[in-house]
Amino acid sequence: MEKLIVTGGTSLRGTINVSGSKNASLPILAATLLTDEQCVIRRVPDVSDTNYMLQILSKLGAEVERASGNVIVAAKDVSHETPYDIVRKMRASVCMMGPLVARLGKADVSLPGGCVIGDRPIDLHLRALQELGAVIDVKGGDVVIRVPDGLKGAEINLRGKFGPTVLGTANLMMAATLADGLTIIEGAAAEPEVVDLADFLGKMGAKIQGAGTRRIEIEGVESLHGVEHTIIPDRIEAGTFLVAAAIAAEERMTVNRIQPSHLTAVIDTLKACGHAVEIEGQKAHVTRGAQPRGTKIRTGPFPEFPTDMQAQMTALFIVSEGISTVTDTIFPERFMHVPELQRMGARIERQGNMAIVEGPSELTGAPVMASDLRASATLVLAALRAKGETVINRLYHIDRGYEHIDEKLMGVGAQMVRARA
Ligand code: EPZ
Repeated sequence: MEKLIVTGGTSLRGTINVSGSKNASLPILAATLLTDEQCVIRRVPDVSDTNYMLQILSKLGAEVERASGNVIVAAKDVSHETPYDIVRKMRASVCMMGPLVARLGKADVSLPGGCVIGDRPIDLHLRALQELGAVIDVKGGDVVIRVPDGLKGAEINLRGKFGPTVLGTANLMMAATLADGLTIIEGAAAEPEVVDLADFLGKMGAKIQGAGTRRIEIEGVESLHGVEHTIIPDRIEAGTFLVAAAIAAEERMTVNRIQPSHLTAVIDTLKACGHAVEIEGQKAHVTRGAQPRGTKIRTGPFPEFPTDMQAQMTALFIVSEGISTVTDTIFPERFMHVPELQRMGARIERQGNMAIVEGPSELTGAPVMASDLRASATLVLAALRAKGETVINRLYHIDRGYEHIDEKLMGVGAQMVRARA
């Protein structure tokens, strides 16, 4: 196990580059199963989640090659049985179901475990596949899917009690590309990662209209062909670095290779708190406000404030003037970062799906425990500002979704070192 030792108090400056999106890469890598031809995918971040996905594809029988940021996959002959030992490590492997069922007419995928951000059901995924004609058995922790009479297009409402499902939309869209007839998805997720997947599938020859809206139409086709594609920038990594600048950059800091239209809710929030964010093409120049203040945020489906950014913004509120509230309507339990931030001196309390922050507080370094991916990144942000040394244990949580976060932050002046725990 590794840990990160951060010495707080240095001011960040300069330019930090954003990698390709983890959450766009995962369903797109799964989509390579929809064809027996070669797919070349650029800017796949080198993080453990994408590496797990490549291991699964390889174990299924696909030819997989990674050359720096590019990935080449050719799924000529693949099995329908996903390897439990890898799948159980990553919930996103659930998005193998759609492509396997579409390509092979069957899939055995182990049920994703729960995780620290709360219950992670897949009922919407399974119901959608059933409406396309799949017969599903859940036994011994495995989802066993068979499609005796082939997938048939249908009109499906994907909306759940917590709103649209991102990977559920991805799974259904992928399955529908090879179904017989027209599939209409109502209540679809509109996240940029869903749009990037639709672009990828379209290049493969799929017929998809409406990606990026709540209603997506997919006309099934006979087969799909190989494709070349470049993954969109990671909007959550970018947002994390924008907040890092607002927390710890005394002068201007630039976050490069972003897609500004994917970050409006985060950028608007930073401006509402008194920070300057100037967009110049793919760059965002951030200058910390003289009197930073807190505000209220409430997460929601894109383009509302992203649940994957609420913990990071909480760290900024701690060192800002006034009372702030953070409400997560998507994952009401996603507050693992709160007790760790309290250990560092944050005045923050949790009330159900809301955290209430009173600022500004002086943060002091302490040994803390990483938990989910974004809560762990939040501890790094707090540590940048804290007086003294913070030791962040269980670093593997951060490595799941942030490509070389320590090297990137050291590149703009942060003082930290990765060590064996
Ligand atoms: C994706 O997860 C992201 N992961 C998550 O990012 C992100 O937090 C989430 O979307 C919401 O934006 C990837 O893209 C790999 P959902 P996903 O299905 O698709 C409920 C990160 O930090 N739900 O959109 O699994 C669910 O419990 C990760 O990078 C059902 O009830 O999330 C949640 O409350 C964390 N039934 C809500 O819907 C279902 O069948 C949204 O979940 C599916 C979901």
